[in-house]
Amino acid sequence: MIYLDNAATTMIKPPCVVQAVTEALTSLGNASRGAHGGALDANRLLYRTRGKLAGLFGCPRPERVIFTGNSTEALNVAINGTIRSGDHVIATALEHNSVLRPLYRLRAQRGVELDFVPADWAGRVDYSDFERLVRPNTRAVICTHASNLTGNRLDVARIGEIAAAHGLLFILDASQTAGATPIDMARDGVSILCFTGHKAMMGPQGTGGLCVGGDVDIEPLKVGGTGVQSYLEEQPGEYPTRLEAGTLNGHGIAGLSAAADFIERTGIDAIHDREIGLARRFYEAVADVPGVRVYGDFSTWERCPIVALNLSDVDSALVCDALWRDYGIAARAGAHCAPLMHRALGTEAQGAVRFSFGYFNRADDADAASRAVREIAAGVRS
Ligand code: ALA
Repeated sequence: MIYLDNAATTMIKPPCVVQAVTEALTSLGNASRGAHGGALDANRLLYRTRGKLAGLFGCPRPERVIFTGNSTEALNVAINGTIRSGDHVIATALEHNSVLRPLYRLRAQRGVELDFVPADWAGRVDYSDFERLVRPNTRAVICTHASNLTGNRLDVARIGEIAAAHGLLFILDASQTAGATPIDMARDGVSILCFTGHKAMMGPQGTGGLCVGGDVDIEPLKVGGTGVQSYLEEQPGEYPTRLEAGTLNGHGIAGLSAAADFIERTGIDAIHDREIGLARRFYEAVADVPGVRVYGDFSTWERCPIVALNLSDVDSALVCDALWRDYGIAARAGAHCAPLMHRALGTEAQGAVRFSFGYFNRADDADAASRAVREIAAGVRS
């Protein structure tokens, strides 16, 4: 099997991640729920991992690294906990449903007003649109770091500057970039960074979180057991406890911690360059194939290792099925939970075939995929 669906999840994990989860499964207690060895080990693990992630993402205060089950949960915590009735929010056409649906619900339930920075035929935004859309009641800019469909990356520093100039919260969805793209939330003016552990971080599914800037307060989405201050009727106010009701996924976090170590040892730039090199190799081999239409901005490689394409007017699901059945290549077709992006690209009906590269792919994988695309495209034309 040739796995090119790393934007959905990385299926091949570093061996140290597998080992860490396996060991944790038989040794880890419940953090903050006991004072025996296993419980204290769990506390130490959380403490260390918060520190590693704070370092990786430029979050000044490790106690404000909050664990969640994935970036969707992190975004729900961030969005529901900061946006109030009557607020206006600016997002973009690049957003995933993990941003869109919480916002649409707030529009329906709290009268929140929304505007979306449009994308052009190549999925690019015009940064002056962020500025143009600011209103007196604008509370936040909430956007993805990179499109999960085209791989186009947004300029976080530029958006951060605009947000800061207008006193807006800046909530960044780093689902597609965390782990393989340098991020510095303090430098770039990001108020809340939401990440997932199972994509480019190469950790287990069921891990993720948010990093909360020092001057930001978030109302808890869920309340409940924390193992501390049990006689308080309300959720304790201190971070991270404030936003972490219930037992955490300690076993998964053990894997995430090992993944963060792997990224640090390997070097985030080395990971990025390797993944981008593979995507570029594939792109250059398919871009000019007759009948192939590639989506996104490839004038720059400051992007994610994603290449989405279609073959003439063939349904993307049929192409993906052929890739899997005849070549053993795993890619992803359809809408990718990115409805506005597909609308901007004109691919709502057809979807797109998305190839996404990971650190453990090899040049042979990119070459096998480009050969397969050429052969299927030739079959479509004949
Ligand atoms: N959001 C993930 C993707 O883009 C699952 O495929």
